[in-house]
Amino acid sequence: MTSFHLRGGEMHAEAVSLATIAANVGTPAYVYSADALRRSAQRFRAALGKVPRKQLMFAVKANPSLAVLRVLADQNYGADIVSGGELDCALRAGITANHIVFSGVGKSAPELIAGLDAGIGRFNLEHEREGQLLAALAAARGRRAPALLRINPDVDAGTHAKITTGRSDSKFGVPADEALAIYDRLAALPGLDLHGLAVHIGSQITDLAPLEVAYRKVGDLVRALRQKGHRVYHVDLGGGLGVSYRPGQPDADVEAYGAMVAAVTRDWDITLLFEPGRLIAAQAGVLLTRVLWVKPGGTHPFVVVDAAMNDLARPALYDAWHEFAAVRPSGKTFAADVVGPVCETGDTFARARVIDRVGEGDLALFHTAGAYGAAMASTYNCRPLVPEVLVDGNRHAVIADRVAAHAVRKQRLAPWMADAPAVRAA
Ligand code: LLP
Repeated sequence: MTSFHLRGGEMHAEAVSLATIAANVGTPAYVYSADALRRSAQRFRAALGKVPRKQLMFAVKANPSLAVLRVLADQNYGADIVSGGELDCALRAGITANHIVFSGVGKSAPELIAGLDAGIGRFNLEHEREGQLLAALAAARGRRAPALLRINPDVDAGTHAKITTGRSDSKFGVPADEALAIYDRLAALPGLDLHGLAVHIGSQITDLAPLEVAYRKVGDLVRALRQKGHRVYHVDLGGGLGVSYRPGQPDADVEAYGAMVAAVTRDWDITLLFEPGRLIAAQAGVLLTRVLWVKPGGTHPFVVVDAAMNDLARPALYDAWHEFAAVRPSGKTFAADVVGPVCETGDTFARARVIDRVGEGDLALFHTAGAYGAAMASTYNCRPLVPEVLVDGNRHAVIADRVAAHAVRKQRLAPWMADAPAVRAA
């Protein structure tokens, strides 16, 4: 039984009806299943059973909700962060600092300092200058910053161009053929405890072959570094495993991934780090919405829902598919375009798609929205930030409020402006 399922003809998250949540919280709203989070976290750990020494860090960017991070912390997942804000989220969720790895191509000095002051487990360096800066900041505090060097293996992950990160023309990591020289120089800095490598070639990857190519390149570098006398005792293999978003599309084979990793790294004698995001959270969340209108269209009707591209940006950004379903399906279907209220044509969730027949006022949901959903929400069109709800068994709780657009950035008038506009519309 999946965590989102029909019970008595009505969609539930675990034991809680989505109609109840809509009545209590309103729509649109993200709904997460704690059980689904736990199960995917446990499945990934089990798949890596043949990897003797490992640390699992959830990629906070996929879902930074404190309650979600806490569920995963209870599964002994740390955090992969990419900003001072994510550091804050991870710490507030109760993740221990030494279980946090700081990735990201543009860490600022204040963010590096925040990581140092918090005592995080390691920094994944994206380039040499960053390593020099981190070393200087750490040395000034009488510290040595634990760090890995991120390699760009020049491998095409075979995923959407916007979420590919391991090709030589992408901004991430240092070229593999320069890595030895850069490692030599950075390892000599007193403020750095450089002790390994990191790699991450992209996201929503279902073909394991490019991952294996990248990991073998890392293995070659581990051996070369050790031959030069370097200490290499951690390798971060990143995240990136994909999930099924539509019927017939396969999930990445997590068990095959575990077997591949175990085989490739068998003689590395090392602790491996993993940074899964989507794999853990995507299928553990849905976006609950209500149909506002069914508007006649040229070839198909438009189902206008109250969720929009500001709430779930993936279709507009990556042409991503999210299954659309009625909360109380009648069994009848029709072909329709599913669109949101935002004033651009990009605010389209589905085109000419055969979906559950829905009418005005009906509740519906978008599946597989637990990763990169709420995380990427905005207040475009001055829409409020979408709230989030966590379900655990028969309990549910709001874990992020709906926040009015003007309050998100605490807007105010400039001090020289009068209380009322000088000219009023006639
Ligand atoms: N580690 C690093 C260094 C990353 O850059 C990412 C994702 C991850 C781990 C986690 O990757 P995952 O396991 O979730 O694939 N917004 C896009 C996805 C962007 C992924 C960015 N980096 C989307 O909605 O598809």
